[in-house]
Amino acid sequence: MSTTRKLYIKTYGCQMNVYDSERMGEAMEGQGYEATDNPEDADLILLNTCHIREKAAEKVYSELGRFRALKAERPDLKIGVAGCVAQAEGEEIMRRQPLVDLVVGPQSYHRLPELEAAARQGKRALDTDFPEEDKFEHLNARPKAKRGPTAFLTVQEGCDKFCAFCVVPYTRGAEVSRPADRVLREARDLVERGVREITLLGQNVNAYHGAAADGDWSLARLVRELAEIDGLDRIRYTTSHPNDMSDDLIAAHGEIEKLMPYLHLPVQSGSDRILKRMNRSHTAESYLRLIERMREARPDILISGDFIVGFPEETDQDFEDTLRLVEEVEYGQCYSFKYSTRPGTPAAERALVDPAVADERLQRLQALLRRQQTAVQDRMVGQEVGVLFEKPGREDGQLVGKSDHLHSVFVDAPGHQIGDLVRVRITASAPNSLAGTLI
Ligand code: SAH
Ligand code: SF4
Ligand code: F3S
Repeated sequence: MSTTRKLYIKTYGCQMNVYDSERMGEAMEGQGYEATDNPEDADLILLNTCHIREKAAEKVYSELGRFRALKAERPDLKIGVAGCVAQAEGEEIMRRQPLVDLVVGPQSYHRLPELEAAARQGKRALDTDFPEEDKFEHLNARPKAKRGPTAFLTVQEGCDKFCAFCVVPYTRGAEVSRPADRVLREARDLVERGVREITLLGQNVNAYHGAAADGDWSLARLVRELAEIDGLDRIRYTTSHPNDMSDDLIAAHGEIEKLMPYLHLPVQSGSDRILKRMNRSHTAESYLRLIERMREARPDILISGDFIVGFPEETDQDFEDTLRLVEEVEYGQCYSFKYSTRPGTPAAERALVDPAVADERLQRLQALLRRQQTAVQDRMVGQEVGVLFEKPGREDGQLVGKSDHLHSVFVDAPGHQIGDLVRVRITASAPNSLAGTLI
């Protein structure tokens, strides 16, 4: 009789949570679990949660409520909460939601098998420590299954920057870089398993300073070494902080062909007054000069960013400054959010902007960002780009992949398969994708 149990993981939040969910899935494979897409089949349900904004955190409680009926039918079902809400509110979750059998913080995932075993014995288990040992080392001892063409690889975790609005330094802890040889080993392993594109992840990825035999490596050095791996064709990294865009990293964009022409560089606001209150330690002007240097190094680089509108005490003038910065940068892609008060952060003490005003500002900003995104996309028409096929398209013989600039491109490519990296001429631009023909 088969003893395989089924694991359903639902992932919220950033790409680092996606990476962590993959690792948790692999850790539980070692315990006889296999993945399922259907919570109704599962023996263990894990919610890998995000605490970044209030709405994200609330979702956890409403999602848990939905599993009540399931658990009543199948008392054997175990439910766990992982991720940043688990870290921030683990004990409260246990108190408020008796359905939850286990809580595991982002730095303790490698202990998930023990927590699950305790839960099977009827105990409620919680682990939100920041342990000394390297969780990645434990998580990477695992089966060698074939992989798709693209993968995430976390190289750095945590943040020491303490922006006044942000929970990440509290939920993920202090900045830590993984040793360079371990990152290289994991990258080679991914390539052997079919990966052709790796996105290096970190909450402050460009602050990477991983230990190596010849001293600490910068992110630029790491990228240079990764570029030497045969079979690895594309390298990306995210998310970067403007203060950590070092000269060698800027230069790398002009020199390393495998480093893709895309940079996610959040600025949050275009007003120096607000940037100061946010504790961002850069100015609008220094950010604009940085973008200029990036474009000198790599003229076709696509710039992406994040913005917060309605930060406490933001005036109409501050907001106009943000619009002006956006006009100057011309973003190819952007994420913008209404400020959300996070308990325990310095900004939580300050006077809020009228929510109606914040809503209106967000709409204006998003309209501008949408126009820019469309303009940047439209300018791709007629150009030649690389496309790495990731999945089938809507029609027969059609495949979809990401361009060098991270646009989704639909291509008629009979005879080709997922994982092929091809040259494509862009022929049309639609709201969220491009179309192209093989060259
Ligand atoms: N490390 C990255 C961003 C991490 S969080 C950086 O330094 O830029 C991702 C984005 O969520 C942030 O860039 C910010 O735009 C947004 N964000 C973070 N805290 C927020 C809050 N309290 N309210 C609204 N948006 C927030
Ligand atoms: Fe949060 Fe700021 Fe750190 Fe980014 S740099 S994770 S926004 S504290
Ligand atoms: Fe959310 Fe934690 Fe990522 S708060 S954005 S899941 S680091």
